[in-house]
Amino acid sequence: MSDKMRGRLYSLLTDYYSKKYREDYFQDAVMRRFYRKLYFEIFRNLGTIEKAIGRFTEFRPAPEQMAALVMGSAQLLYMNDVPDYAAVNESVSLVGKNKRGFINAVLRKIIAKREEILAASVERDNFPAWLADRWRKRYGNISAEKIMAAYNQAPPLYALNVENLAVEEVEEYDEEAENLYYMDKASAMIPTLAGKLEPASVLDCCAAPGGKTLILGKMYPESIVFAVEINPKRFEVLEETVERFGLDNVQPVNNDIMKMEGDEAFDIILLDAPCTAIGTMRKHPEIRWIRNEMQIREKASIQRKMLIKTSRLLAKHGRLIYSVCTTEPEETTDIVNAFLTENPGFRAVKPACPDEFIRGDYFVSDPSKSNCDGFFAAVLEKIK
Ligand SMILES: C[S@@+](CC[C@H](N)C(=O)[O-])C[C@H]1O[C@@H](n2cnc3c(N)ncnc32)[C@H](O)[C@@H]1O
Repeated sequence: MSDKMRGRLYSLLTDYYSKKYREDYFQDAVMRRFYRKLYFEIFRNLGTIEKAIGRFTEFRPAPEQMAALVMGSAQLLYMNDVPDYAAVNESVSLVGKNKRGFINAVLRKIIAKREEILAASVERDNFPAWLADRWRKRYGNISAEKIMAAYNQAPPLYALNVENLAVEEVEEYDEEAENLYYMDKASAMIPTLAGKLEPASVLDCCAAPGGKTLILGKMYPESIVFAVEINPKRFEVLEETVERFGLDNVQPVNNDIMKMEGDEAFDIILLDAPCTAIGTMRKHPEIRWIRNEMQIREKASIQRKMLIKTSRLLAKHGRLIYSVCTTEPEETTDIVNAFLTENPGFRAVKPACPDEFIRGDYFVSDPSKSNCDGFFAAVLEKIK
């Protein structure tokens, strides 16, 4: 086992229990093999794990002890291939000498009650109450349970074939495959939702890492696709994507879309806006634990401004795709419905996609029905 990976996971969990939520959780999620699996088991089952620890501790342990207990419990409860003694010894070794007896005692009790703990575990234990309540109110108990179960599954691996833009499920990553780009099935549908127009110019407003830029570049080989990204590090990744796939018609721009000048310049605009990313929880199970309702409102406020700004860059009869990888109403229907009410020069156009993804005028992907991430998109046409 790698000490470095163990140290990273331990430090990440210690930070988590100190309420220091790190934005590099996403990078940590790409940890390989054993610690990657452990990471997923922890964040997919954190409610059950914390409940079990709570049964055998009188007071909430300090962050370092919680981190060690969570790492040990996740292995004892969810990783059958790890011998109990190894899981216990590893966790004990993570804390100071005077706390080792405590960690050992709690983990031994979890081993003794393992079957009972697992039998009593229900899906909603593993989602924060605010989110489970939201979904129960919106979808009803049965559908909410199904959605939670779907979000707690490992997603299939989908690969976009850059030659024909078809997306297929594949067994494993093939680093040698030059014509494949790994991205979610629903995500790959977003750039195609406006239908295939004959545009002179295309704008991708929030482009990195560049999956949707790649599709736009391939869909519109005769057009220039401007791909704007504000974050310098993410911009480098965007440039790599553009270079790797030889997208000569894509022009990456490291800038803030809110500062972009010019009116009515683009025929197709994709606004794949920054969001809470709640729909990506299958790949990023930690999201549910580090998000809250205030963040949903904060993102919604940014999205509203971005939609207003970018809509001004759309040419007459042009189409703007507004998309987010979440299905929470504040970030989706509320934004678009308010925009349409305030801007009668625009109308919603039915997205070009299979009917299973259509909800009213909009595109919605539901992991419990279509085995893909949770996405929302609207296609808005400028009619005057
Ligand atoms: C949801 S991600 C985009 C994913 C991308 N469309 C893809 O398919 O690979 C949102 C991106 O918008 C960028 N962003 C946020 N605010 C921005 C702004 N004001 N101008 C340009 N880019 C922005 C973020 O840095 C982030 O990379």
